[in-house]
Amino acid sequence: MTADDRTPVPTSPSDTPEAARPGAAVADSAFLRACRREPVPHTPVWFMRQAGRSLPEYRRVREGIGMLDSCMRPDLVTEITLQPVRRHKVDAAIYFSDIVVPLKAIGIDLDIKPGVGPVVDRPFRTREDLKRLRPLEPDDVAYVTEAVGTLTDELGATPLIGFAGAPFTLASYLVEGGPSRNHEHTKAMMYGAPDLWTELLDRLAEITTAFLKVQIEAGASAVQLFDSWAGALAADDYRRSVLPASTKVFDAVADYGVPRIHFGVGTGELLGLMSEAGADVVGADWRVPLDEAARRIGPDKAVQGNLDPAVLFAPRPAVEAQARRVLDAARDLPGHIFNLGHGVLPDTDPDALTRLVEFVHEQTAR
Ligand code: CP3
Repeated sequence: MTADDRTPVPTSPSDTPEAARPGAAVADSAFLRACRREPVPHTPVWFMRQAGRSLPEYRRVREGIGMLDSCMRPDLVTEITLQPVRRHKVDAAIYFSDIVVPLKAIGIDLDIKPGVGPVVDRPFRTREDLKRLRPLEPDDVAYVTEAVGTLTDELGATPLIGFAGAPFTLASYLVEGGPSRNHEHTKAMMYGAPDLWTELLDRLAEITTAFLKVQIEAGASAVQLFDSWAGALAADDYRRSVLPASTKVFDAVADYGVPRIHFGVGTGELLGLMSEAGADVVGADWRVPLDEAARRIGPDKAVQGNLDPAVLFAPRPAVEAQARRVLDAARDLPGHIFNLGHGVLPDTDPDALTRLVEFVHEQTAR
């Protein structure tokens, strides 16, 4: 073997120049550079819900295993997290889990029903219910520490994104008892029992913080806070009743220095406030063009998004034209991470995703 054939990432750190260590290669990846608003070799791409969903290899390994059970098995988590990286050549992996995993881990009686989502046995409605929310200890999710460790080894120079649900979105599942169109019980508590509401969100902020810390300490290179349903709120209500709890989460993980991403759906009117919560990167859905989203998000933040996931059902030229629109809107932004405006839809053709990654890489190669 000649010197040129050797792997560029030696395994012994002691005799290795700083820039050749695996950690340094991850830090220098297009994804993390974009999060820091540094120049990139190409616009990085990853997809929310890239793990699972539309991949046949995912369905194969999940056969006969419940969603929550699979989240507790490091071997499956590792395999499923790696699948979209292998297949699509995305610029980042997202840890395979679910936003309700930490709640399950502290003993909340819930399940994830196929085609429905998280369902909570006894919805939270009174102060008495708070007693069921104890703090999350790292030992409650030892399988996460194990899987993140294996994954960072296997991923090499590809960064791993850890994630958690934001307090409001978790509260909505707990209070409604399942997915909800109108969030009526959640809002009834927010308006009608503000002290109980604040305490519920603060406890969820602590659980979410603990879950993110486990992932960062095990080696995750970035974290995303999913406040998927925040778009159901008026800006004033978000500012008063939700922003403080999400801010606590971002503040509590700030010192790790890993990029913090904040994302919600239908949050065009909230982008400025979601930025204020303390993220380094703010995700936008497809309803606001990225240049306008960036204006609302404000200076010094990277922007993530925002192709409508339904566009992937159109013929290839139309997908490319819409992706082009996203890239054009992001042209002058330092720090753009290409993503969908929400998760990959279950019936998406996986090849359309692979082609989209290629297209974005080609179009933005510098
Ligand atoms: O992004 C990824 O690929 C990583 C894995 C991931 C899952 N859930 C796996 C999953 C992530 C990041 C999530 C986050 C999540 N979970 C969110 C925030 C993101 C968003 O979509 O807004 C929310 C709101 C949930 C709650 C939840 N869990 C929903 C709405 C569903 C879908 C129900 C359905 O079947 O349509 C789930 C289940 C779930 N989470 C699946 C997967 C792969 C499907 C379960 C299965 O395959 O049986």
